[in-house]
Amino acid sequence: MYAMIFALQGLFSENDRIMKPVLQEVEAPNTGIVPSLGKVFVETYGCQMNEYDSGIVKELFRQANYEPATSVEDSDIIFLNTCAVRENAHAKIYGRLQSLGYLKKKNPSLVIGVLGCMAQNLGEDLFHQELPLDLIVGPDNYRSLPDLIGKIRTGEKDVSLTRLSRTETYDDLEPKVVNGIQAFVTIMRGCNNFCTFCVVPYTRGRERSREPESIVKEIKSLELAGVKQVTLLGQNVNSYQYESYDFAALVKLILNGTNIERIRFTSPHPKDFPMHLIQLMKDEPRFSSQIHMPLQAGSNKVLMDMKRSYTKDEYLDLVNNIRNEIPDVGITTDIIVGFPGETEAEFQETLEVVREVGYDMAFMFKYSEREGTIAKRKFIDDVPEEVKSRRLIELVDLQTSISLQKNLEKVGKTFEILIENTSKKSKSELCGRTHCGRMVVFPLPEGMNQSLEQWIGKIVTVEVTAATSATLKGNFTGFKS
Ligand code: 5AD
Ligand code: SF4
Repeated sequence: MYAMIFALQGLFSENDRIMKPVLQEVEAPNTGIVPSLGKVFVETYGCQMNEYDSGIVKELFRQANYEPATSVEDSDIIFLNTCAVRENAHAKIYGRLQSLGYLKKKNPSLVIGVLGCMAQNLGEDLFHQELPLDLIVGPDNYRSLPDLIGKIRTGEKDVSLTRLSRTETYDDLEPKVVNGIQAFVTIMRGCNNFCTFCVVPYTRGRERSREPESIVKEIKSLELAGVKQVTLLGQNVNSYQYESYDFAALVKLILNGTNIERIRFTSPHPKDFPMHLIQLMKDEPRFSSQIHMPLQAGSNKVLMDMKRSYTKDEYLDLVNNIRNEIPDVGITTDIIVGFPGETEAEFQETLEVVREVGYDMAFMFKYSEREGTIAKRKFIDDVPEEVKSRRLIELVDLQTSISLQKNLEKVGKTFEILIENTSKKSKSELCGRTHCGRMVVFPLPEGMNQSLEQWIGKIVTVEVTAATSATLKGNFTGFKS
């Protein structure tokens, strides 16, 4: 049973939102005029925003005449871009740093730096732990990185910069974090919500939105690199506000200013779903009808203690409004079990909401107490570990059966699919997403299947023929009319 829990936790962990092995940056040509100042390797942990930020770091170093390294062994500088959302994210980084110690012994001039949320969260404390570490830099200070490397190279020790900014949005940098036909674009940073369990407002600072034209410009240049689908990113993506532009106005600007085939977004907060945003999703075939709506808990008491700013009924009303407007919308969520004080009855309320909503998919977590959060100051982490584990199994089991049921309902129906790639399991099959965000795997008919790669980026129609809780299988029926 425990083996299963770990597998399932892995299956639904935040890291799975990233498709790491195929991510690449589209390299701008090196002019070759100035000699390289060294080779830089960036290893990314955590969410898609970190993936995007690693692209920003690489772009900054490219502009400062460094070159990318192909492995840690081949590097002059190694950065770990880290996450702090749950305890296991920290544990992973300690382990990784220790494992890099042998490289530092071999090459004392090697620079190792910790970037991102864990750097911001722990700051200089990280220097006091006997780790092979030279540099600690938070998410708002990446522009200073080349200068800080310069300082280390002139002998300065234990260099750190963790100043949060109210304005930094890295507008002018276009990291082009592309995965085949898909790319991420960060549109806002930070969070003002201070959910009591969450470290993000402390590691990422206050909300600030990026200038709309710089976003359109970046998406246009991604289009030139062959991108068909962009995922707009932000810790609180739908609270985007730049002068008179709210999130819906930004999406309209992108739809009008580019030919991008599909726009997706993550992660929103349920408090920022005005009717005109739902209407835009309903009316615009290029705006994906998939909504990630973090529930976190189903009991009003727990929601209040979490400071989520909605009640169970308000959340359910919102889901109903969305489903009334967009009947085939895909809804996914995040849920935490074992928040301080969560009783068995309160946990059962979470299961009830999960049954009532019928999510297509969920990321499910055990509560993990975080340094600096309101929950750590206000509550005792009193739900025993084995109770958290048992609740997680129960929740995962329920969600797996719901995902299966939701997928089985799609058998016999035909969907428009934007082809993203060849299937991971079978190179003779293609995979792509429905408008509502479900992945479908399908073969092409005889005679069309010589070179599958040429179909990537096309929109086709596929009839779903079989389903498991995780995948839909189908048959190609035609091209988009
Ligand atoms: N413990 C467990 N899960 C957490 N999350 C955020 N902070 C914590 C925590 N302290 C989860 C939430 C959030 C997702 C990104 O991670 O569900 O939506
Ligand atoms: Fe964290 Fe809440 Fe902000 Fe999401 S909305 S990043 S959970 S504080």
